[in-house]
Amino acid sequence: MITPSSTQTHATAEYIEKNKDQFLNELVELLKIPSVSTDAAYKKDVIRAAEFIKERLQEAGADNAEVCETGGYPIVYAEKIIDPALPTVLVYGHYDVQPADPLELWHSPPFEPVIKDGLIIARGAADDKGQMYMHVKAFEAMMRTNTLSCNVKFMIEGEEETGSDSLGPFLEKNRDKLAADVVLVSDTAMLSNEDPSLTVGLRGLSYVEVEVTGPNRDLHSGIYGGAVANPINVLCEMIASLKDDKGRITIPGFYDNVAVVSPEEREAMNKAPFDLEAYKADLEIDDVQGEEGYTTLERTSIRPTLDVNGIWGGYTQPGAKTVLPSKAYAKISMRLVPNQSSDEITECFQKHFESIAPSHVKVKVTPHHGGEPAVTPIDSPAFQAASMAMMDSFGKEPIPMRGGGSIPIVALFESILGLKTILMGFGLDSNKIHSPNENYGIFNYFKGIETIPLFFKHFAEISKEA
Ligand code: BES
Ligand code: MN
Ligand code: MN
Repeated sequence: MITPSSTQTHATAEYIEKNKDQFLNELVELLKIPSVSTDAAYKKDVIRAAEFIKERLQEAGADNAEVCETGGYPIVYAEKIIDPALPTVLVYGHYDVQPADPLELWHSPPFEPVIKDGLIIARGAADDKGQMYMHVKAFEAMMRTNTLSCNVKFMIEGEEETGSDSLGPFLEKNRDKLAADVVLVSDTAMLSNEDPSLTVGLRGLSYVEVEVTGPNRDLHSGIYGGAVANPINVLCEMIASLKDDKGRITIPGFYDNVAVVSPEEREAMNKAPFDLEAYKADLEIDDVQGEEGYTTLERTSIRPTLDVNGIWGGYTQPGAKTVLPSKAYAKISMRLVPNQSSDEITECFQKHFESIAPSHVKVKVTPHHGGEPAVTPIDSPAFQAASMAMMDSFGKEPIPMRGGGSIPIVALFESILGLKTILMGFGLDSNKIHSPNENYGIFNYFKGIETIPLFFKHFAEISKEA
C-alpha cells in the first residue's frame, strides 16, 4: 500500500496507480527488443532500444533528449532542469542485455515476455530494463502531477554488459552536461521484498582468457598419450593450483591491498536476515563452500574470488574420439574488493600463470575488460534520502548491504565526475539475471516506481536543510 507523506506525493501515487497497466505494457514492449550488446547480430535491435528509451523520455516531458553516438553503442541522454538552485539527480541505467542462451532452458522465449505468478519473465526483465524503466515512469508521474522536486538528467547506456568501454570517454567529454549532485542507479538486488536493502558496495572485476598449447597439432591419444603433455590436463592442474585447501587464492600479491573489514562491520553485516537453508534449497545444493573463516554473505561481498567462467578444448561432439588436443582454453574472472586494482590484479595473474606453466606447454594470457570496486558512504544526504524513501514505501528501514556484482561505471562516476552513487535496486537474487528464465517481480517494478519520487522529494528537502 502507498502511504503518502504529503498531498504532493499523494497525487504522484494516484497517477501511478491509475497508469499501472500502461506502465507494464510499455515494459513488455521494451523487453521484446533483443538488445544483446555482446553479439553484433543484434546491432539494429540495440539501437532500436536506445530510440525507444529516448522517445519515452521525450513523451514523459524530458528536454534535450538525444541518442548520443559513441565509439560503440549510443548513450541516451535527456534532462529536465526546473531550477538551477535545486539539486540535480543523474539517473544511470542500461538498455542492453546479456545473451539469452542456452535457449533450450527457457520455459518461454526470452524476448516474448510472459507474466506469470506475479513475475514478468524475459531477458533483461530485472537487468536492467525493468529497473531502468521504473525511472522513466517515475519521472513521467512526477511531471504529470507537477511534483518533480529536483533537476534530473538521464544517462542510459547500451554497453554495460560488455564492459562500458565508451562510458569513460563520454564522461570525460561531457563533464558540464553531466554535472549533478548524485548518481541514482537501480541495477542491484535487495535482500528480500520483506527486508529492503540498499547496496553500499560493489566488487571490481579482472577478466582474462588463457590459452595453453601442447603439441603443434591434435594427436592420436594412443600413439602419443603418456609421453606428450595434454594441454587440457595441464590447464586443469594449473587452475586447481590457483586455490589452496582453505579456499584462498594462491596468486602472489593477490591479497596485498585487500581492505580489512572491521569486526564490528562484519558483525553488523552478518545480522542481516539471510536464510542459508533457503539459499541452498533455491540452488538445490547440499552445501556451500568458500574461503575458510568467512560466512556466505561475506564471501559474496567483502572477499575477492576467482572463478572459471568457461573452459574448452579437444573433442566435445557426440561419441568418443580419441584425441590428445593441441590446445586448451579458459575464461577466468576475479571479483575484486577495495582497494584492489583491476590492472594490478590482472598483471599479478598473468605473471603467476606464466610462471607456473610447466616446460612442456606454452601459455598465453589475454586480459579482457575489467572494473574497479566501489563503496558508497552511508552518511551522505543522498543515502539518507534513499533510506527515507524506502522507509516510506516499504514501511521498513533498508539495510545497507554490500553487493557481489560489478558495475564498473560507479567507480568512474567518482573518479571522473567526483560523484557518489546511490544503488537503490529493487531486484532479488532470485531474478535469474544472466540466466535462463530471467524475471522481475511486478511488485518490485511498481514498488520502484513508487519509491523513486519519494527519493526525489526527500533529497530536495535534505539538500535545502543542508
Ligand atoms: N546489474 C549487474 C550487476 C549487479 C547485479 C550488481 C546484481 C549487484 C547485484 C550488471 O549488469 C552486471 O551484470 N555486471 C557485470 C559486469 C560487467 C563488466 C559485465 C557483472 O557483475 O558480471
Ligand atoms: Mn545490470
Ligand atoms: Mn548484467
